[in-house]
Amino acid sequence: MNNISTDEFITRRENLSNYINDGIFILPGNTSFVRNHDVNFDFRQNSDFWYLTGFNEPNSVMVILFKPEIEYYLFVEPYDVHHHIWEGYRAGIEGAKNDFKADNAFPISELEKILPEMISEFNNIYYRVGSDKRIDSIVSSFYSTQLRQVTGKRGNYNINKNQNNGSVSIIDPVPFISELRMIKSENEIKLIDDAIDVTKKGFEHINTILNQNMTEYDVQVELEYIFRKNGSRFNAYPSIVAGGDNACVLHYIDNNRSLSDADFLLIDAGAELDYYASDITRTFRLNSNIDSLRMEAYNIVKEAQKNAISAVKPGQTLKDIHMKALDVLIPGLKSLKLFDHSIDEILSDNLYTEFYMHGTSHWLGLDVHDSSPYSINKSEIELKPGMIFTVEPGLYFSARSQYSDFNKSLTGTGIRIEDDILVTENGNRNMSEDIVY
Ligand code: GLY
Ligand code: MN
Ligand code: MN
Repeated sequence: MNNISTDEFITRRENLSNYINDGIFILPGNTSFVRNHDVNFDFRQNSDFWYLTGFNEPNSVMVILFKPEIEYYLFVEPYDVHHHIWEGYRAGIEGAKNDFKADNAFPISELEKILPEMISEFNNIYYRVGSDKRIDSIVSSFYSTQLRQVTGKRGNYNINKNQNNGSVSIIDPVPFISELRMIKSENEIKLIDDAIDVTKKGFEHINTILNQNMTEYDVQVELEYIFRKNGSRFNAYPSIVAGGDNACVLHYIDNNRSLSDADFLLIDAGAELDYYASDITRTFRLNSNIDSLRMEAYNIVKEAQKNAISAVKPGQTLKDIHMKALDVLIPGLKSLKLFDHSIDEILSDNLYTEFYMHGTSHWLGLDVHDSSPYSINKSEIELKPGMIFTVEPGLYFSARSQYSDFNKSLTGTGIRIEDDILVTENGNRNMSEDIVY
């Protein structure tokens, strides 16, 4: 069960009125995917659909009419006793109305019949073309019928450069949902705190058992066992469990090598709990006798993260936070004797990207890389209370790289430290601060 109340889902739908005054909004959920023959992959609802409906069943479509007052409809798989016997319960038409507060609900099999009637009342269709073949076809046939009505069969075309033709507009509503998802409610913050707490339990367990006789896979299953045991049905993303040089593959998921000669183990993993993600990285030391240059690199990353997090407050941008990480990482790379260039040159010529090739932050929420925008109309998003994102600087010295680490003592080392940060009125709260280091 989720902890988002029915009222909060209603408020989310109402918030779409900030963007839509008069029009029909159509959003398909995820469909079930066949794995093989008659067995499906695990189902996980589309995050935008979940955000607006809280409805966890596959093959559903939501429709909201903005007149501008809101009428909310769900197309769902009807309750079916055979389905109940073989696969489980479905809320069906009655459940969609009673439990999910749809003003009316219809069988999904009637989409092609009912949706064209609904659309025909509107000139503005808020739908992401390409997100569902059936809806694409309904929308495009309505669009072309309307177009013919405007232009006639051999019509008098009014050609106005850069304007639509005066008939139907099809507008992608996903950016609106993405913007709504940017500020988290108190309940959402609580759910992300809870997801982080599960991840914390997993990391703490690993910290007590980790040794060089384990394989990456041993670590992964121990970690994910704790996630599952504490209520996380899915990871927020595939766990990255990377010893030694494998940590230089940013999204390494093979997780199948021995740790016997690795100095560090990078674990980047996060439990998903009640649809909300966590995203944590720790770089564990596997032996107490690590080369001092490698430890220096570790401490540079740690310091860069500290510097970046301390700058998080309303009014800053994620670019500012990235710069705060670079303010430590670039002098650090110089102190590791990887560059003779000036700090300005290393920055302006992007030389540092040989060792730090990813951004410092991304939004976090229903998705690990939450879909909210980083800029709107080319203006960087300024941080506001309720936003949640990661701060995850790293340094990577890969064996595949051509860099001039003259004694090669750094080669085969990847370090990243990642925490989840909430922007507050006066600064920030590091939500995962107490996870082991
Ligand atoms: N776990 C993927 C990331 O940190 O972005
Ligand atoms: Mn991560
Ligand atoms: Mn991340």
